[in-house]
Amino acid sequence: MKTSSYSGFFKLSVEDRLNEVAEFAGLTEEDKAVLSSADSLDMDKADHMIENVIGRFALPLGVAINFVINGKDVVIPMVSEEPSVIAACSNAAKMARPSGGFITDSTGNVMIAQIQMLNVPTPFASKGKILEKKDEIIRICNEKDPVLVKFGGGVKDVEVRVLDTIAGPMVIVHLLVDTLDAMGANAVNTMAEAVSPYLEEITGGTAELRILSNLADRRIVRARAVWKKEDIGGPEVVDKMLSAYAFAAADPYRAATHNKGIMNGIIPIVMATGNDTRAIESGAHSYASRNGRYTSLTTWEKDENGDLVGCIEMPMAVGLVGGATKIHPTAQACVKMLGVKTAAELGQIIAAAGLANNMAAMKALATEGIQRGHMSLHARNLANTVGAKGEVLERIVKQMVADKKVRLEYAQELFEKFSQEQ
Ligand code: MEV
Repeated sequence: MKTSSYSGFFKLSVEDRLNEVAEFAGLTEEDKAVLSSADSLDMDKADHMIENVIGRFALPLGVAINFVINGKDVVIPMVSEEPSVIAACSNAAKMARPSGGFITDSTGNVMIAQIQMLNVPTPFASKGKILEKKDEIIRICNEKDPVLVKFGGGVKDVEVRVLDTIAGPMVIVHLLVDTLDAMGANAVNTMAEAVSPYLEEITGGTAELRILSNLADRRIVRARAVWKKEDIGGPEVVDKMLSAYAFAAADPYRAATHNKGIMNGIIPIVMATGNDTRAIESGAHSYASRNGRYTSLTTWEKDENGDLVGCIEMPMAVGLVGGATKIHPTAQACVKMLGVKTAAELGQIIAAAGLANNMAAMKALATEGIQRGHMSLHARNLANTVGAKGEVLERIVKQMVADKKVRLEYAQELFEKFSQEQ
């Protein structure tokens, strides 16, 4: 594998695929052993990660290929239970290659911690008092994490909002914390708790909730790409896809599914790199409704050549240090495969994959429908489930698709029939 583009990659054996990826990404024999073993997370580590551990749970780890991001070829590890996601992602990336692939950027790594102040006698005057003491607030917070500060992170700013709620007015203090390459939940929560007594002193109120916000809108990633009309089926396909996008942009019922398709590309990488999938989901969907109505996380346009231009913009609170990313050996090997050195780079790759999956889903929906592609993969799953292997499995898949009967009982029937014939 010289680049991330490889024709017929899916036809290789699992071992050959791993060898190709290892060659591409400079992975060692040890990395390969970690990636190929479902047991790379040993029971002792697992037992220390969460509570009441009784075992471990394996899922398939695949790679999305064909990606060029900011001029660099990337092979992207993805953990998913859903067939067709990786194929769709790789296919959309392949179709974006002729126009240079994906361009990405991000706004940095600033997370928000919220402190809820109750029973503040003069909320608006307190807002002023808090802002006057900004330097002292920042000093108290930063004292809690000298290492973060040493490397250039820490609290950068303080914001105050007066909220009118059904429980009366509240003063909400936001700490804007640059968490560098950490996801940052622990750092910002510690700071929020540490500074609360001082905020009580300034305002005369009581600090209640002290916790980060998953609406990480100061940690935004963006990706964009151009798909030439001739590479995706012509001008009619472009127009149909734009109409599919217009539907998602206008209707929350459709936007929910459209964004689910985006998350098909996002969550598997978040998972593969040991990051917090729920934080990313919650950030994505709250960002999608930031203007009061839930809408698409992507935008789609036609450029002056009639080519399709897609953009994605969303919060991306992922880290490279701490948490499962550091503990889980497979997550570490996946980070190595990506060749990323910063959380921002990781986030941008994730955004590109989200855009790619969205493109693939819209194209399928706007043309042949989603079921055709899904069916053979689903048939493969069913053949697998009934225990078929090798040639018998391939025959079952072909037969089920040809008969348009992709059901478990039919897979079982064909398995028995073809096994006897072997
Ligand atoms: C299925 O996992 C994802 C899609 O429903 C996304 C979409 O409708 O855009 C195909």
